[in-house]
Amino acid sequence: MQRNILVTGGLGFIGSHTIVCLHEAGYVPVIIDNLHNSRIEVLSAIEKLIGYTPEFIQGDVNDKSLMNDTFRKYQPEAVIHFAAHKSVGESVDEPLMYYHNNVVGLISLLEVMKQYDCTKLVFSSSCTVYGEPEQVPVKESTTTRAAASPYGATKQMGEVILKDNDWCNVQCLRYFNPVGAHESSLIGELPLGVPNNLIPYLTQTVAGIRPQLTVHGGDYNTPDGTCIRDYIHVMDLAEAHVAAINRLLNKTAEHTVEDGDPSKGNFEVFNIGTGEGYSVLEVIAAFESATGRKVPHVIGPRRNGDIVAVWADTTKVNEVLGWKARRNLETMMKDAWNWQLACNSPN
Ligand code: WQD
Repeated sequence: MQRNILVTGGLGFIGSHTIVCLHEAGYVPVIIDNLHNSRIEVLSAIEKLIGYTPEFIQGDVNDKSLMNDTFRKYQPEAVIHFAAHKSVGESVDEPLMYYHNNVVGLISLLEVMKQYDCTKLVFSSSCTVYGEPEQVPVKESTTTRAAASPYGATKQMGEVILKDNDWCNVQCLRYFNPVGAHESSLIGELPLGVPNNLIPYLTQTVAGIRPQLTVHGGDYNTPDGTCIRDYIHVMDLAEAHVAAINRLLNKTAEHTVEDGDPSKGNFEVFNIGTGEGYSVLEVIAAFESATGRKVPHVIGPRRNGDIVAVWADTTKVNEVLGWKARRNLETMMKDAWNWQLACNSPN
């Protein structure tokens, strides 16, 4: 039986890598993407990796007519919802755009899912829901605090909306910092405009596209004064989505949760990180060691909205989903650099 999985935002950075992993796991991905933050060329790159061009609908989750047609035609067993704006900085400048796209978009999707009795969803949440955690590593039971940006607020609202819709079985994945690219360098994080995130800015600096990398702050209360994050290879993150789909489609045992963990019958939350935290300077050193290339950088002022340190306790996802990140920081840096080289020399 063909097991269609609808993937919103499936041509994006995490979405495109997840399409490849879904295919390899025997599922049939169906992509809907409005190309706001992705390019149609990704579709042919995916075809090179999986041997056929997946079904693709160009459009927006807020387009009810298109979504009705899509559900009627493909009758997806489950949905993976990536389609959302994701820049912390941009959300501060464009809060209405973020609430409309990320929150209204989720509601529109849920209304169509309910209408077509599609009751299984994997939701892209984020470690930003923790705000500045009082202690690290964070567990799913760690208190979520006031979001530091409209982007983080849209993820917190998404989790509340999903918890309250108990007709829908949800795997809520709280991402940490996705980096790297598929080992083939055929897909990766598309460089659209000046990168906000560390790794694309770093690789563009080494490639000579940016003059130098500015480290945002060197006086934080961390061992080397720079912020700490849990960087996770995008392929590990993609594989976590397949593990979540497997659980949704084959769910058996309930999992007892710790006090404070928002999970309940229809709604399970997981931290999707490596469990390791690295500072900005440690990432720079890892990149230089992995590639043999120096990273021209200076220590500059702090960036508004940055938290000092967050990394994941991954005990729960290891036990319940049977998933664990497999790729180390060196591999992340090598794959990120190879992707940059591939982008520099378009064929
Ligand atoms: C990482 C560190 C910066 C750029 C991201 C996404 C967010 C969420 C979590 C999924 C920070 C420093 C950066 C630069 C620097 N992902 N930095 N110089 O802010 O942790 O958030 O991951 O939901 O959507 O935005 O990631 O890569 O921007 O920053 O020093 O030029 O690198 O200060 O300490 P962040 P980031």
